[in-house]
Amino acid sequence: MNVAMFAVDLWCEMQGILPPMNELNGKRIVLGLTGGIACYKAAELCRAMAKEGATVQVVMSAAAEQFITPVTLQALSGRTVYSSQWDAREANNMAHINLSREADAILIAPCSADFMAKLLHGGADDLPSLLCLARPFQQVPLLLAPAMNREMWSHPATQRNVAQLRADGATLLDVGSGDQACGESGDGRMLEPEEILQDLIAFFSPKTLAGQHVLVTAGPTYEAIDPVRGITNLSSGKMGFAIARAAREAGAQVTMIAGPVSLPTPRGVARHDVRSACEMLDATLAVAPAATIFIATAAVADWRPTSSCEHKIKKDGSGQLPELRFVENPDVLAAVARLPRAQSGELFCVGFAAESHDLLANAQAKRERKKVPLLVGNIGPTTFGQDDNTLLLVDAHGATELPRASKRLLARQLIVEIARRLTA
Ligand code: CTP
Repeated sequence: MNVAMFAVDLWCEMQGILPPMNELNGKRIVLGLTGGIACYKAAELCRAMAKEGATVQVVMSAAAEQFITPVTLQALSGRTVYSSQWDAREANNMAHINLSREADAILIAPCSADFMAKLLHGGADDLPSLLCLARPFQQVPLLLAPAMNREMWSHPATQRNVAQLRADGATLLDVGSGDQACGESGDGRMLEPEEILQDLIAFFSPKTLAGQHVLVTAGPTYEAIDPVRGITNLSSGKMGFAIARAAREAGAQVTMIAGPVSLPTPRGVARHDVRSACEMLDATLAVAPAATIFIATAAVADWRPTSSCEHKIKKDGSGQLPELRFVENPDVLAAVARLPRAQSGELFCVGFAAESHDLLANAQAKRERKKVPLLVGNIGPTTFGQDDNTLLLVDAHGATELPRASKRLLARQLIVEIARRLTA
């Protein structure tokens, strides 16, 4: 453990909370760079993986060295970079064997069109291709993050290579879309470092929800009073987004119905943005027939104004206050829990309870009222907007506490708990 990580752990211990996860702790990643302008992003990726606790061993092709120097990658990884299969630093002069035997995964980012073609034919004329070929391919996974011009990407030869590399057992990451360094625009950019990092973390996650379709509601709702005002609440959406991410990492297909929040969509999650409780209900009911797990984390506004004024309500100077009348919003969770598929257990429903006091009693009562097998209680005022939380899981057998930790870690623990209940 490095000094910075130790200091963070110590601080967390003093605060009585679990330290943040170093999500690649103990993982040994060989990061291979091949020729492409996206090499500049590989520097950030290297840093991000190291920050998550991975040991990163960088290997570069001669073409990659035209775009970025080994000095940068050495400084960021804290290890000397290998770029030649004739590197005499290795006692046996077999860098390709030694590096590939020590790795938990080999990640080629950027992976050029030429490198994919070479891999496909088992070419091995430089260190990156040699170590990919020499790796024990049943034990050491190979992940490729393609990066190239849009025409190169869509060329039938490249697409043929992509399909064959998949068939040969490689994991092909997506490509990004947008402006390219050459001035053109389209598919073929390398994913952003944060996206590759999320994919790598997901790759190593146990697939406890494989085959499931998880539907999550997240964030607050906003109930308009007039075009410029409305009622909402302090929910940040962080817990729901963390749960959507954790479910996707666990191998599920994930659809998220999100109220108005500005959080980035987790990788691989289908997101539908809504504003009001009624919109959230419609969007949820449209997806529910295909879902197998429903997790209602949204802080749905309990009431909405009876009608929303078309124009801004103005003060008329008389001191007279506007008269607002409210009607109760539909209960999204209860509506889903009433569906026949939920009643038969085909759709496993999980509710949340945001309480201010008497958490256990309120959560138990809410579970029964909403007729869900699992209800997750938390104290609303101490969690809204925060990065950490404490959860109380209440089901027919009793209550279990998940102690204070980051929402990211709690989300993963909750997914494990849900998966356990599904297989029980
Ligand atoms: N919920 C919902 N639709 C609503 C209200 C709540 O789907 N209109 C869901 C929430 O997403 C959560 C659970 O029901 O999963 C409990 O929400 P909470 O706000 O704690 O409780 P309420 O049902 O609103 O009851 P109260 O405000 O009286 O505690």
